[in-house]
Amino acid sequence: PDILVLNGPNLNMLGVREPTIYGSDTLTDIEAMCQERGEALGLGVDFRQSNFEGELVTIIQQARDSHDGIILNAGAYTHTSVAIRDALSVAELPAIELHLSNTYRREEFRHHSYLSGVVDGIIAGFGARGYVLALEAMAGLVGADE
Ligand code: DQA
Repeated sequence: PDILVLNGPNLNMLGVREPTIYGSDTLTDIEAMCQERGEALGLGVDFRQSNFEGELVTIIQQARDSHDGIILNAGAYTHTSVAIRDALSVAELPAIELHLSNTYRREEFRHHSYLSGVVDGIIAGFGARGYVLALEAMAGLVGADE
């Protein structure tokens, strides 16, 4: 199975960006962790990042025909984007919403997610390890662990 691990705006700045909240790992470090764990789980990992809402929508639409599941850290678009929510519905794939931080312990505006209602599950608050946890959960959703 091939899994799209998609990262939204500002996640290209990890390592530099507010390390007390998001940790010191860079997105490149996290991609390496995902490739390693994915291989062990028998999952192909297609790791992407974009700062553009429409590009994220297009990538999610295209995953419908090319991938078996989506792990999405949509960054701030989590709290604003009906378009990304609709794209997830269009994709009709197993999907996991992911956040490095525990968004419920932060500002009120981060407590609402447009995505939570259309995903299979949510992982938040475990930092970079959350990506590995999400891959393990995805292995279950796509039956790679049977
Ligand atoms: C985030 C949480 C969002 O609220 C924030 O806008 C981000 C990152 C996280 O991974 O914790 O950009 O998705």
